[in-house]
Amino acid sequence: MNTFVTLSTRQRMPVIGLGTWKSTSGQVKQAVHTALECGYRHFDCAAAYENEKEVGEALALWVGPGKALQREEVFVTSKLWNTKHDPQDVEEACRTSLADLGLSYLELYLMHWPIAFQRGKELMPRKEDGSICYSDTHYRDTWTAMESLVDRGLVKAIGLSNFNARQTDDISMARHKPIVNQVECHPYLSQADLLSHCRSVGVCVTAYSPLGSGDRPWASANEPSLLADPRLGAIAQRYKKTPAQVILQWHIQRGVVCIPKSVTPSRIQQNLNVFDFSLSEEDTKSIESFNHNKRFIAPTVEVSHQVSLAPKNNSELLL
Ligand code: A2P
Repeated sequence: MNTFVTLSTRQRMPVIGLGTWKSTSGQVKQAVHTALECGYRHFDCAAAYENEKEVGEALALWVGPGKALQREEVFVTSKLWNTKHDPQDVEEACRTSLADLGLSYLELYLMHWPIAFQRGKELMPRKEDGSICYSDTHYRDTWTAMESLVDRGLVKAIGLSNFNARQTDDISMARHKPIVNQVECHPYLSQADLLSHCRSVGVCVTAYSPLGSGDRPWASANEPSLLADPRLGAIAQRYKKTPAQVILQWHIQRGVVCIPKSVTPSRIQQNLNVFDFSLSEEDTKSIESFNHNKRFIAPTVEVSHQVSLAPKNNSELLL
């Protein structure tokens, strides 16, 4: 079983990467260190996660001249935040992520959302009434600025995140084509149509929240927990695997790269131990049938006065 996918740029991207969203500053350095020890070579980061410095501290212990790994052996992704869409802000934002991560280039730089916020230092700029201050910078103009990052050697490739099919098509005429679209994807939101569309235009899909993101800050107690779904438990038992491993194998078998987040050493290890089994066609179809377009993540929501990166409503995703 292949442990990586070959992207349209011929880059090899490991099919399992460590997700770092929701990993706190105090936890993420150890998580990245543990992951490197276990054999992870793919790290998914973003400026908006506000922990890239700590990720960089762990990478610095492992990667570079005289260290255990050569720079070419790791695949690092970061993302341009919504307040940095103005073309004049793009290069500086990328350079900030590079400095925080302690790297001279990234394998992949994604536009985090197809939605621009007002420029500035605030992650979530808001009006007095609490609503988000959007900007009308079009993502096509942001993309053109991101293309210059490839030309300047700051990033090997660029891609999209949270783009729907139409928005992906809007970018497909670009000089540097998007190689990845990273979207929420798991058995409750299987993204079958988007997946087949992206595949048809040579865009690889990466699943974020591949395990259903049970630790999202706005999760409510009465929402269904994917990892506790008894149908998944029954399948996992038959393969002598955990529900998380079954889900990850399901993603891999449909050609989707996944970035499970964990700060727990045993789970970090477990999530990479998925290459010694495969799911039958029947089980794959059965998991596919769990889909009910359940979206756990979207751009903006307020939870008890706390601003989080989550949905007010899903229509914002369909701008
Ligand atoms: P933790 O970080 O405490 O280990 P997602 O990647 O879909 O966002 O899911 C992340 C959530 O899933 C976190 O709460 C993480 O917990 C948990 N998690 C990650 N891997 C596993 C696993 N193998 N088994 C159970 N829970 C897991």
